[in-house]
Amino acid sequence: MKDFSPINKINHPLFTKHGISVSIKRDDLIHPIISGNKWRKLKCNLIETRQGNYTGVLSFGGSFSNHIHALAYACFQQKIPCVGIIRGEAENASNFTLTCARQWGMQLHFVDRKTYRRRHEPEFHQELLQSYPGYFIVPEGGSNQLALPGMADVIDELNQQASFDTLITPVGSGGTLAGLINADNNQHKLLGIAVLKQQGYLNEAVNDLLGDKAEGFSNWQILNQFHRGGYAKFNVEDVQRLQAFKHHCAIPFEPVYSGKMILALLDLVESGYFPAGHRIMLLHTGGLQGLGGLTERGLLDSKEWPMPQTDLSGKL
Ligand SMILES: Cc1ncc(COP(=O)(O)O)c(C=O)c1O
Repeated sequence: MKDFSPINKINHPLFTKHGISVSIKRDDLIHPIISGNKWRKLKCNLIETRQGNYTGVLSFGGSFSNHIHALAYACFQQKIPCVGIIRGEAENASNFTLTCARQWGMQLHFVDRKTYRRRHEPEFHQELLQSYPGYFIVPEGGSNQLALPGMADVIDELNQQASFDTLITPVGSGGTLAGLINADNNQHKLLGIAVLKQQGYLNEAVNDLLGDKAEGFSNWQILNQFHRGGYAKFNVEDVQRLQAFKHHCAIPFEPVYSGKMILALLDLVESGYFPAGHRIMLLHTGGLQGLGGLTERGLLDSKEWPMPQTDLSGKL
Protein backbone atom coordinates (compact mmCIF):
# COMPACT_ATOMS: atom_id res chain seq x y z
CA MET A 1 0.00 0.00 0.00
CA LYS A 2 3.05 2.25 0.13
CA ASP A 3 2.38 4.08 -3.14
CA PHE A 4 -1.22 4.85 -2.29
CA SER A 5 -2.09 8.44 -1.49
CA PRO A 6 -2.91 8.59 2.24
CA ILE A 7 -6.28 9.12 3.88
CA ASN A 8 -6.71 11.60 6.75
CA LYS A 9 -9.65 11.62 9.12
CA ILE A 10 -11.01 15.13 9.65
CA ASN A 11 -12.31 15.77 13.14
CA HIS A 12 -14.49 18.86 13.34
CA PRO A 13 -17.14 19.91 15.87
CA LEU A 14 -19.73 20.33 13.09
CA PHE A 15 -19.24 16.75 11.95
CA THR A 16 -19.42 15.46 15.53
CA LYS A 17 -22.61 17.44 16.14
CA HIS A 18 -24.26 15.79 13.13
CA GLY A 19 -22.87 12.35 13.91
CA ILE A 20 -21.05 11.95 10.59
CA SER A 21 -17.49 10.94 9.86
CA VAL A 22 -15.39 12.70 7.24
CA SER A 23 -12.11 11.52 5.72
CA ILE A 24 -10.09 12.85 2.81
CA LYS A 25 -7.99 11.00 0.27
CA ARG A 26 -4.91 13.14 -0.14
CA ASP A 27 -4.25 12.96 -3.86
CA ASP A 28 -2.68 16.41 -3.43
CA LEU A 29 0.27 14.50 -1.96
CA ILE A 30 0.92 12.30 -5.01
CA HIS A 31 3.56 14.72 -6.30
CA PRO A 32 4.43 18.35 -5.50
CA ILE A 33 3.52 19.44 -9.04
CA ILE A 34 1.67 16.71 -10.92
CA SER A 35 -0.79 16.19 -8.11
CA GLY A 36 -4.37 15.16 -7.59
CA ASN A 37 -6.60 14.33 -10.47
CA LYS A 38 -4.00 15.82 -12.83
CA TRP A 39 -1.73 12.84 -12.47
CA ARG A 40 -4.58 10.36 -12.51
CA LYS A 41 -6.00 11.80 -15.75
CA LEU A 42 -2.68 12.33 -17.51
CA LYS A 43 -1.15 8.95 -16.75
CA CYS A 44 -2.72 6.96 -19.62
CA ASN A 45 -2.69 9.96 -21.97
CA LEU A 46 1.10 10.09 -21.68
CA ILE A 47 1.43 6.33 -22.08
CA GLU A 48 -0.64 6.62 -25.28
CA THR A 49 1.57 9.48 -26.51
CA ARG A 50 4.72 7.41 -26.03
CA GLN A 51 3.38 4.08 -27.24
CA GLY A 52 1.49 5.62 -30.17
CA ASN A 53 4.69 7.21 -31.40
CA TYR A 54 3.21 10.68 -31.43
CA THR A 55 5.51 13.66 -31.88
CA GLY A 56 4.28 15.19 -28.63
CA VAL A 57 1.18 16.27 -26.73
CA LEU A 58 -1.00 19.28 -27.43
CA SER A 59 -3.66 20.44 -25.01
CA PHE A 60 -5.78 23.42 -24.03
CA GLY A 61 -6.23 25.59 -20.97
CA GLY A 62 -6.74 29.01 -19.45
CA SER A 63 -3.77 30.99 -18.26
CA PHE A 64 -4.06 29.73 -14.66
CA SER A 65 -4.79 26.13 -15.62
CA ASN A 66 -3.76 23.34 -13.26
CA HIS A 67 -3.88 20.97 -16.21
CA ILE A 68 -1.44 23.03 -18.29
CA HIS A 69 0.92 23.36 -15.31
CA ALA A 70 0.90 19.61 -14.58
CA LEU A 71 1.12 18.59 -18.23
CA ALA A 72 4.13 20.83 -18.80
CA TYR A 73 5.98 19.30 -15.86
CA ALA A 74 5.03 15.70 -16.70
CA CYS A 75 6.21 16.20 -20.29
CA PHE A 76 9.39 17.82 -19.06
CA GLN A 77 10.08 14.79 -16.84
CA GLN A 78 9.27 12.31 -19.59
CA LYS A 79 11.01 14.33 -22.33
CA ILE A 80 7.83 14.60 -24.40
CA PRO A 81 7.48 17.77 -26.50
CA CYS A 82 4.30 19.64 -25.57
CA VAL A 83 2.22 22.54 -26.75
CA GLY A 84 -0.35 24.47 -24.71
CA ILE A 85 -3.11 26.27 -26.58
CA ILE A 86 -3.80 29.06 -24.12
CA ARG A 87 -6.95 31.16 -23.98
CA GLY A 88 -6.10 34.83 -24.72
CA GLU A 89 -5.24 37.06 -21.79
CA ALA A 90 -1.81 38.09 -23.02
CA GLU A 91 -1.40 40.13 -19.82
CA ASN A 92 -1.17 36.80 -18.00
CA ALA A 93 1.59 35.42 -20.22
CA SER A 94 4.15 35.87 -17.46
CA ASN A 95 2.02 34.72 -14.55
CA PHE A 96 3.11 31.98 -12.18
CA THR A 97 1.43 29.09 -14.04
CA LEU A 98 2.64 30.01 -17.51
CA THR A 99 6.12 30.99 -16.37
CA CYS A 100 6.50 27.49 -14.92
CA ALA A 101 5.05 25.85 -18.04
CA ARG A 102 7.39 27.80 -20.32
CA GLN A 103 10.36 27.04 -18.10
CA TRP A 104 9.61 23.32 -18.31
CA GLY A 105 9.63 23.55 -22.09
CA MET A 106 5.97 23.79 -23.02
CA GLN A 107 5.47 25.79 -26.18
CA LEU A 108 2.70 28.30 -25.47
CA HIS A 109 0.36 29.17 -28.29
CA PHE A 110 -2.05 31.98 -27.36
CA VAL A 111 -5.43 32.22 -29.07
CA ASP A 112 -8.24 34.71 -28.58
CA ARG A 113 -11.41 33.70 -26.76
CA LYS A 114 -13.37 33.20 -29.96
CA THR A 115 -10.78 30.80 -31.34
CA TYR A 116 -10.50 29.05 -27.97
CA ARG A 117 -14.22 28.26 -28.09
CA ARG A 118 -13.39 25.97 -31.04
CA ARG A 119 -11.24 23.75 -28.83
CA HIS A 120 -13.53 20.72 -29.18
CA GLU A 121 -14.01 21.04 -32.99
CA PRO A 122 -12.32 18.38 -35.14
CA GLU A 123 -11.73 21.03 -37.88
CA PHE A 124 -9.81 23.18 -35.40
CA HIS A 125 -7.78 20.14 -34.39
CA GLN A 126 -6.92 19.53 -38.03
CA GLU A 127 -5.78 23.16 -38.36
CA LEU A 128 -3.61 22.78 -35.26
CA LEU A 129 -2.12 19.56 -36.57
CA GLN A 130 -0.93 21.47 -39.64
CA SER A 131 1.27 23.49 -37.29
CA TYR A 132 2.05 20.62 -34.92
CA PRO A 133 2.11 17.46 -37.06
CA GLY A 134 1.90 14.13 -35.29
CA TYR A 135 0.86 15.60 -31.92
CA PHE A 136 -1.57 13.74 -29.68
CA ILE A 137 -4.44 16.08 -28.79
CA VAL A 138 -5.67 15.93 -25.20
CA PRO A 139 -8.79 17.94 -24.38
CA GLU A 140 -8.96 20.75 -21.84
CA GLY A 141 -8.58 19.41 -18.29
CA GLY A 142 -7.30 16.09 -19.65
CA SER A 143 -10.87 14.79 -19.61
CA ASN A 144 -11.10 12.09 -22.25
CA GLN A 145 -11.62 8.32 -22.29
CA LEU A 146 -7.98 7.81 -21.34
CA ALA A 147 -8.57 9.74 -18.12
CA LEU A 148 -10.92 7.03 -16.90
CA PRO A 149 -8.47 4.19 -16.19
CA GLY A 150 -6.22 6.61 -14.29
CA MET A 151 -9.14 7.72 -12.12
CA ALA A 152 -10.00 4.04 -11.57
CA ASP A 153 -6.79 3.76 -9.54
CA VAL A 154 -8.39 6.04 -6.93
CA ILE A 155 -11.25 3.59 -6.46
CA ASP A 156 -8.89 0.59 -6.41
CA GLU A 157 -6.88 2.26 -3.68
CA LEU A 158 -9.95 3.34 -1.69
CA ASN A 159 -11.38 -0.17 -1.77
CA GLN A 160 -8.26 -1.39 -0.04
CA GLN A 161 -7.92 1.56 2.31
CA ALA A 162 -11.30 2.51 3.75
CA SER A 163 -15.04 1.97 4.11
CA PHE A 164 -17.34 4.88 3.37
CA ASP A 165 -20.81 5.68 2.08
CA THR A 166 -20.38 8.79 -0.10
CA LEU A 167 -17.41 9.96 -2.14
CA ILE A 168 -17.30 13.69 -2.95
CA THR A 169 -15.20 15.41 -5.62
CA PRO A 170 -15.12 18.85 -7.23
CA VAL A 171 -16.25 18.93 -10.87
CA GLY A 172 -14.89 21.16 -13.66
CA SER A 173 -14.95 19.33 -16.97
CA GLY A 174 -16.36 16.01 -15.69
CA GLY A 175 -13.52 13.57 -16.38
CA THR A 176 -12.67 13.01 -12.74
CA LEU A 177 -16.23 12.20 -11.72
CA ALA A 178 -16.81 10.04 -14.82
CA GLY A 179 -13.74 7.97 -14.02
CA LEU A 180 -14.82 7.52 -10.41
CA ILE A 181 -18.37 6.53 -11.39
CA ASN A 182 -17.11 4.03 -13.93
CA ALA A 183 -14.69 2.33 -11.56
CA ASP A 184 -16.87 2.50 -8.46
CA ASN A 185 -19.59 0.62 -10.34
CA ASN A 186 -22.47 1.55 -8.01
CA GLN A 187 -20.71 0.59 -4.78
CA HIS A 188 -21.00 4.05 -3.19
CA LYS A 189 -22.91 7.26 -3.62
CA LEU A 190 -20.85 9.75 -5.65
CA LEU A 191 -21.42 13.48 -5.29
CA GLY A 192 -19.84 16.03 -7.61
CA ILE A 193 -19.63 19.68 -6.59
CA ALA A 194 -19.78 21.86 -9.72
CA VAL A 195 -17.25 24.67 -9.33
CA LEU A 196 -18.71 26.72 -12.17
CA LYS A 197 -22.11 28.00 -13.22
CA GLN A 198 -23.65 25.66 -15.71
CA GLN A 199 -26.91 24.51 -17.23
CA GLY A 200 -26.62 20.81 -16.70
CA TYR A 201 -24.11 20.30 -19.49
CA LEU A 202 -21.78 18.68 -17.00
CA ASN A 203 -24.20 15.76 -16.58
CA GLU A 204 -24.07 15.38 -20.34
CA ALA A 205 -20.26 15.58 -20.36
CA VAL A 206 -20.04 12.85 -17.71
CA ASN A 207 -22.56 10.66 -19.54
CA ASP A 208 -20.67 11.14 -22.81
CA LEU A 209 -17.48 9.93 -21.17
CA LEU A 210 -19.27 6.93 -19.68
CA GLY A 211 -20.66 6.10 -23.13
CA ASP A 212 -22.76 2.94 -23.41
CA LYS A 213 -22.26 2.15 -19.74
CA ALA A 214 -23.84 5.44 -18.58
CA GLU A 215 -27.33 3.98 -18.12
CA GLY A 216 -26.07 1.42 -15.67
CA PHE A 217 -24.93 4.04 -13.17
CA SER A 218 -27.62 5.56 -10.99
CA ASN A 219 -25.85 6.50 -7.78
CA TRP A 220 -24.27 9.80 -8.71
CA GLN A 221 -25.30 13.42 -8.76
CA ILE A 222 -23.75 16.79 -9.53
CA LEU A 223 -24.76 19.55 -7.14
CA ASN A 224 -24.90 22.86 -8.99
CA GLN A 225 -25.71 25.30 -6.18
CA PHE A 226 -22.22 25.62 -4.69
CA HIS A 227 -20.28 27.53 -7.37
CA ARG A 228 -20.36 30.73 -5.24
CA GLY A 229 -20.83 33.06 -8.21
CA GLY A 230 -18.95 31.14 -10.90
CA TYR A 231 -15.60 29.66 -11.77
CA ALA A 232 -12.82 30.93 -9.48
CA LYS A 233 -15.27 33.31 -7.78
CA PHE A 234 -15.45 33.55 -4.01
CA ASN A 235 -16.13 36.26 -1.45
CA VAL A 236 -14.36 37.37 1.71
CA GLU A 237 -16.58 35.25 3.92
CA ASP A 238 -15.87 32.14 1.80
CA VAL A 239 -12.14 32.74 2.17
CA GLN A 240 -12.43 33.23 5.93
CA ARG A 241 -14.48 30.04 6.37
CA LEU A 242 -12.05 28.06 4.27
CA GLN A 243 -9.08 29.53 6.08
CA ALA A 244 -10.56 28.55 9.46
CA PHE A 245 -11.23 25.02 8.21
CA LYS A 246 -7.77 24.71 6.69
CA HIS A 247 -6.16 25.78 9.99
CA HIS A 248 -8.39 23.44 11.94
CA CYS A 249 -7.43 20.32 9.98
CA ALA A 250 -3.94 21.41 8.84
CA ILE A 251 -4.59 20.41 5.23
CA PRO A 252 -3.88 22.84 2.37
CA PHE A 253 -6.78 23.77 0.10
CA GLU A 254 -7.31 26.35 -2.62
CA PRO A 255 -10.62 28.13 -3.19
CA VAL A 256 -11.22 27.16 -6.85
CA TYR A 257 -11.71 23.38 -6.60
CA SER A 258 -10.97 21.63 -3.30
CA GLY A 259 -12.04 24.72 -1.34
CA LYS A 260 -15.41 24.87 -3.06
CA MET A 261 -15.90 21.21 -2.24
CA ILE A 262 -15.13 21.93 1.44
CA LEU A 263 -17.49 24.92 1.60
CA ALA A 264 -20.21 22.83 -0.06
CA LEU A 265 -19.60 20.04 2.46
CA LEU A 266 -19.95 22.46 5.38
CA ASP A 267 -23.21 23.84 3.94
CA LEU A 268 -24.57 20.35 3.30
CA VAL A 269 -23.70 19.10 6.77
CA GLU A 270 -25.16 22.22 8.41
CA SER A 271 -28.40 21.69 6.51
CA GLY A 272 -28.66 18.09 7.75
CA TYR A 273 -28.17 16.62 4.26
CA PHE A 274 -26.31 13.57 5.57
CA PRO A 275 -27.96 11.24 8.11
CA ALA A 276 -26.21 10.50 11.41
CA GLY A 277 -23.75 7.65 11.03
CA HIS A 278 -22.94 8.59 7.41
CA ARG A 279 -19.32 8.12 6.36
CA ILE A 280 -18.00 10.64 3.84
CA MET A 281 -14.82 10.38 1.80
CA LEU A 282 -13.56 13.56 0.11
CA LEU A 283 -11.15 13.44 -2.81
CA HIS A 284 -8.48 16.14 -2.55
CA THR A 285 -7.82 16.82 -6.24
CA GLY A 286 -4.72 18.97 -5.71
CA GLY A 287 -4.53 22.13 -7.81
CA LEU A 288 -2.54 24.02 -5.17
CA GLN A 289 -0.42 25.68 -7.85
CA GLY A 290 -3.51 27.81 -8.52
CA LEU A 291 -2.64 29.70 -5.32
CA GLY A 292 0.25 31.26 -7.28
CA GLY A 293 -2.04 33.13 -9.65
CA LEU A 294 -4.52 34.04 -6.92
CA THR A 295 -1.86 35.53 -4.64
CA GLU A 296 -0.11 37.23 -7.57
CA ARG A 297 -3.36 39.02 -8.40
CA GLY A 298 -3.84 40.02 -4.77
CA LEU A 299 -6.98 37.88 -4.45
CA LEU A 300 -5.47 35.95 -1.55
CA ASP A 301 -2.87 36.80 1.08
CA SER A 302 0.30 34.85 0.31
CA LYS A 303 1.15 34.46 4.02
CA GLU A 304 -2.15 32.76 4.71
CA TRP A 305 -2.16 30.86 1.41
CA PRO A 306 1.44 29.79 0.77
CA MET A 307 2.35 28.10 -2.45
CA PRO A 308 3.35 24.45 -2.43
CA GLN A 309 6.91 23.54 -3.33
CA THR A 310 7.81 24.68 -6.84
CA ASP A 311 10.77 23.76 -8.93
CA LEU A 312 11.55 25.86 -11.95
CA SER A 313 14.66 23.83 -12.71
CA GLY A 314 12.59 20.67 -13.08
CA LYS A 315 14.79 18.66 -10.74
CA LEU A 316 12.07 17.37 -8.42
C1 LIG B 1 -7.56 20.79 -8.82
C2 LIG B 1 -8.71 20.34 -9.64
N1 LIG B 1 -9.70 19.70 -9.03
C3 LIG B 1 -10.78 19.28 -9.71
C4 LIG B 1 -10.91 19.50 -11.06
C5 LIG B 1 -12.13 19.04 -11.76
O1 LIG B 1 -11.86 17.91 -12.51
P1 LIG B 1 -12.64 17.63 -13.86
O2 LIG B 1 -12.24 18.72 -14.82
O3 LIG B 1 -12.16 16.30 -14.28
O4 LIG B 1 -14.09 17.68 -13.55
C6 LIG B 1 -9.87 20.17 -11.75
C7 LIG B 1 -9.89 20.36 -13.20
O5 LIG B 1 -9.45 19.49 -13.92
C8 LIG B 1 -8.75 20.60 -11.01
O6 LIG B 1 -7.74 21.26 -11.60
